[in-house]
Amino acid sequence: MIRRNTFIFLLALGISTAAYSQTQDIDRKVEALLQKMTLEEKVGQLNQYTGDWEVTGPVTNSGNKVEDVKKGKIGSMLNVRGVKHTRELQQAAMQSRLKIPLLFGQDVIHGYRVTFPIPLAEAASWDLEAIEKSARIAATEAASSGIHWTFAPMVDIARDPRWGRVMEGAGEDTYLGSLIAKARVKGFQGKGLGNTNAVMACAKHFAAYGAAIGGRDYNSVDMSLRTLWEVYLPPFKAALDAGAATFMNSFNDINGIPATGNSYIQRDILKGKWGFKGFVVSDWGSIGEMIQHGYVKDNYEAAEAAITAGSDMDMESRSYINHLVKLVGEGKVKQELIDDAVRRILRKKFELGLFDDPYRFSNEKREKKTLNKPEFLQAARDVAKRSIVLLKNEGSVLPLSKDLKSVALIGPLVKAEKDMQGFWSIDWGKEDHLVSLYEGMQNQAGKTKLLYAKGCHVQDTSRAGFAEAVSTAKEADVVVMAMGEKFDMSGEAKSRSNIHLPGIQEELIKAIQATGKPVVVLLMAGRPMVFNWTADHVPAILYTWWLGSQAGNAIADVLYGNYNPSAKLPMTFPRSEGQIPIYYNYLNTGRPAKDDTDMNYRSGYIDMQKSPKYAFGYGLSYTTFSYSNLKLSQKQMGKNDSISISFTLTNSGKLAGEEVAQLYLRDVVAKPVRPVKELKAFKKVMLQPGESRTISFTIDKESLSFYNDNLEKITQAGEFEVMIGGSSDAIKLDDKFDLVD
Ligand code: BGC
Repeated sequence: MIRRNTFIFLLALGISTAAYSQTQDIDRKVEALLQKMTLEEKVGQLNQYTGDWEVTGPVTNSGNKVEDVKKGKIGSMLNVRGVKHTRELQQAAMQSRLKIPLLFGQDVIHGYRVTFPIPLAEAASWDLEAIEKSARIAATEAASSGIHWTFAPMVDIARDPRWGRVMEGAGEDTYLGSLIAKARVKGFQGKGLGNTNAVMACAKHFAAYGAAIGGRDYNSVDMSLRTLWEVYLPPFKAALDAGAATFMNSFNDINGIPATGNSYIQRDILKGKWGFKGFVVSDWGSIGEMIQHGYVKDNYEAAEAAITAGSDMDMESRSYINHLVKLVGEGKVKQELIDDAVRRILRKKFELGLFDDPYRFSNEKREKKTLNKPEFLQAARDVAKRSIVLLKNEGSVLPLSKDLKSVALIGPLVKAEKDMQGFWSIDWGKEDHLVSLYEGMQNQAGKTKLLYAKGCHVQDTSRAGFAEAVSTAKEADVVVMAMGEKFDMSGEAKSRSNIHLPGIQEELIKAIQATGKPVVVLLMAGRPMVFNWTADHVPAILYTWWLGSQAGNAIADVLYGNYNPSAKLPMTFPRSEGQIPIYYNYLNTGRPAKDDTDMNYRSGYIDMQKSPKYAFGYGLSYTTFSYSNLKLSQKQMGKNDSISISFTLTNSGKLAGEEVAQLYLRDVVAKPVRPVKELKAFKKVMLQPGESRTISFTIDKESLSFYNDNLEKITQAGEFEVMIGGSSDAIKLDDKFDLVD
C-alpha cells in the first residue's frame, strides 16, 4: 500500500519511478561515502581553487594544488579546462584516499570554442528556442573539453546600464528574464546530468547583484523585500524550476547583510521555501570579502557566517579549508551543517556519473570531434542575426542593394575580432574562425567594391585619421560605420559612469555624415550606450552588441537583407546617464507628466525629457506590421478563471519578416500600487508580405498577481488595462477588463 501511494505521489509530480529509485540509490551511495570520510576530507569537498591557466579574480595563493588534490583537500577547480588538463588533475584526485573525483567549473557564458552573442544580445532576439540552442551547443562543447559545470546563466535583473555586467544577463524585465533563465538552464543541462553533453547550470548571482547602487560593480544593494521578491527573485525561481543544479551567491550585501552570509536568502528562501536540493557556491572570494564588508572580523568568523548561512562551497577564499575543522572542533559550527553541504556536492558528482568513470568528460577523441563543428558556427550566425536591433532606417537606406558600386567601411571596429567576441569569451581573441565585419562584408559584397578607413581608435582622441576617412566616404555610394566599445569596456568590474559612445567616435560620425553620403552606423557594445547626435542625424542605425564568432557574417546578412531584423531591446536606452536607473515598468507617482513637455510641478527633469531615447521592447524591421481587431473573451474575469485576448497581426510592408508582439497589463488601482505597465506575454511571429495571423494570449490569475507587504502573492479585484504593440512605448491596441471576486 505504501509503495502504491508513493507511486501515485510520484506520478502526480511527474517523476518516473526509475528516476526516483536512481535518486534513492545515489542518496544511499552518498551516505555510505560520508560514513568513510574524515572531517578534513569533508571540508576538502567544500573547497574550490582556480587553476593557474586563466584567472578570473584575485588568486589567494598558488601553493601546490596538485599535492592538495592528492590529499583530498580540494573538491572542485575552476579555470581548468581541456581534456589534457582535466585528465591530469583527475588522475591526481584518483590518488587521494577515497578517490573522490574533482568537479571542473568554468565561466561558459556565451559559448565555449564557438562564441555566441553576449547574453544581453541574445535576449534581444526574444527567441527562446535560439537561446536554448546556443546554451545547448556551449554545453556540448564544454563537456567535450572536460568541463562539468558552467557558472551560468546569470539571471540578475539590471536596470542600470552603467553596470558593466548588464552584458551577461537578459536585461531589465522579470518576465522575459525568467523565460530566458529557463531556456538557458534547459540548454546547459540538456537531457539531464549524467549525459556526457550536459553540464551543470549555475543560477547567479544570488541575489539582487544587478541592483548595485550607482551601477558600481560589487556595490551594496538596498531594496524593499517586496521589490526583491517581485523583481529580482523570479528569474532565480524560474532557473530552479527548470532544474538548475547549482546556485552562486553574490558579492553585494542586501540591506546590510552580505549575500554570502545571508541566511534569509540562502537558507530560508532557496533551501527552505523553494526546496533547492543542489549546492551553493560562493562567488570568487566572497566568503573572505565579508571582512572588508565589515560583517566579520577575520576569515575564521567568515567561514562560520558563510556555512551557517548556507554557502556550501568556498570559491577561492580559503576560509573553509583553513578554518572549518577548527570551527567544528570548537563547537561553533555543527557537524550536520558540514555533512549537509558535502552531501549536496557529492550528490552532483554521482549524478554526473563521475564515480563510475572520473574521466568520462575527458575524452580526447570526443573533444576533437565536437569543438567547432560547422553546424555550431551556423547556429552562432543564426542567433547573432536574430540579436541585431534595427533602431532607425529613414529613407530605407537598408537593406543595401547588391548593385552598389562601392561601400566604404569606416570606423575603429571594422576589422575588430576580439572586440566583437565580447567580454567573458573563452580563448579571447585566439579563435581562428572569428569573422570581422570586413570579412563578413567581403563574403557577401559580390561585385561591390569595399573601401576601408579606420578613422579613429575606440578611445583615443586623435583626429589624425579623419581626413582619410572623409575622403574614403566621398568615394563610396554608401558608408557603413563600425563604432562602439572595446571588449573590456562592459563586463565584470567594467562599470562606466559615462556610457556615451567612447572617445571621439561621435565626432567621426559627424564628419562622415557631413559628406552627404547615406550613412549606416553599427553600434557594437556590451550595454546600452548614449549616442543622441547619431540617433538624431544618421539615417540608419543597427545595434549589433557583441555578436561572437560569426559577427561579421551575421551583420552582413542583415545589411544585405538576407535576414530581416526582428530583435527588440531588452533594456531601456537612456538619453543621458542622469536618467539612470531607467526602466519601463515604473510606478506612476502622484504627479506623472503626461508627456516630455508637461513639466509644471511634474515628475520629470527641468533640463531634459523624462522619456528614454529607445524604450524597452523597441526594434524595427525592414517591413511594417499593423495590429487590429482586439478581442477579449470576456470583460469580467473571476479570480480562478482565465481570459483569452486575441488580435490580428498583419505584415503591412513589402518584405517577409518577424514581429515580436507584446502584451502589457496595468492593474489600475491596487494596494500597494502597481507599475504603469508590465510585460505579461509575447509571441514572435513570421509573416509574409500581406499575411495576417490571429494571435491569442491567455491571461490567468498568475499574470495578475503580485506581492503585498507581507510578501504574500495576491490578486485584487478591479480594473486591468490591456495594451498590445510592438514596443512598450508603441501601444497599438488597448482595452480593459475587470477582475471580480
Ligand atoms: C564572478 C562570477 C564568476 C566567478 C568565477 C567572479 O568574479 O562574479 O560571475 O563565475 O568570478 O570566474
